[in-house]
Amino acid sequence: MKRVITLGQFIIERQSDFPYAKGELSRLLRDIGIAAKLVNREVNKAGLVDILGEHGTTNIQGERVKKLDIYANEQFIAALGSGGETRGIASEENDELVPITTAVSKNAKYLVCVDPLDGSSNIDVNVSVGTVFSIYRSTDSSAPLSEADFLQKGVDQVAAGYVIYGSSTMLVYTTRRGVNGFTLDPSIGEFCLSHPDMKCPETGTMYSINEGNYARFPEGVKQYIKYCQVEDDATDRPYTSRYIGSLVADFHRNLLMGGIFIYPSTAKSPQGKLRLLYECNPLAFLIEEAGGTASDGHQRILELTPTSLHQRTPLFIGSAGMVAKAEEFMRGSHRGEPLTGDPAS
Ligand code: AHG
Ligand code: MN
Ligand code: MN
Repeated sequence: MKRVITLGQFIIERQSDFPYAKGELSRLLRDIGIAAKLVNREVNKAGLVDILGEHGTTNIQGERVKKLDIYANEQFIAALGSGGETRGIASEENDELVPITTAVSKNAKYLVCVDPLDGSSNIDVNVSVGTVFSIYRSTDSSAPLSEADFLQKGVDQVAAGYVIYGSSTMLVYTTRRGVNGFTLDPSIGEFCLSHPDMKCPETGTMYSINEGNYARFPEGVKQYIKYCQVEDDATDRPYTSRYIGSLVADFHRNLLMGGIFIYPSTAKSPQGKLRLLYECNPLAFLIEEAGGTASDGHQRILELTPTSLHQRTPLFIGSAGMVAKAEEFMRGSHRGEPLTGDPAS
């Protein structure tokens, strides 16, 4: 019989990869796994109990907040607070950073950035949602916790991951030693290793973008979309368009199957919609570790210098070959490429 490796066992086995590690990061990852199970329980109940609908408040982005966003936020803050390894949290649902002041966290060294519930507009319609997290070392754990501590570049992450609450629930994470995916077995309540050493295909046949915003896109993005729609046997075009509207779910599919996800700047939102610290950086860290790339259309996401907790950035992420092609269009260096299937054009 095949040996089942649980998330807990895997984390402990991997700890020996870090010669000086004292198990702190392992315990932090365990805490995230616990919070994920609690959120999963509520997501699955969402159709049964009166937890659906608006909560009646707005978050810092001015978006309507659903009850489950708040619940998920509270679970992550509570689990990280009682785990003892987290100094502070930057969350989509809190305007300011959340310092952790529990007695067990006195010597905590880690900072966590989190989107506790991603894709919240999909909750009411039973479509996959997710959680995204990013872990940094506090630059000076003896100094008072400050926002500046959170404004580290994505390249300095020590770990990142996401949970997808889909047709099954999965937790995918990396500590720079490969990307590994664990599927929750509800019968035993454990995440079990199901996708070891995940790799993003160098190219794919899917593009994900909210084409409803087409008129507001930069010229390079409009032209790249046309390129995706051209018939070309050699590159398997036209590509297939797939857009779920939950970043985690769109990302997860493209990671497994190959593809590109784009949320560009628009005439209305020059920095796009997605947040650098707790959406783009963690997914960029994962995709690079899996062999893909992530850019803002011009430069590597992981090298952007954050200036505020909730800042946004355009995002082009997925298979390396597809992101490179989209960047060519953004530079305007694609010239000569036929953009429609019509040979006369
Ligand atoms: P959140 O639910 O955390 O606010 O994130 C929603 C994000 C992301 O999940 C998704 O890719 C994007 O919003 C969809 O935006 P559009 O509806 O503008 O396409
Ligand atoms: Mn989100
Ligand atoms: Mn969210």
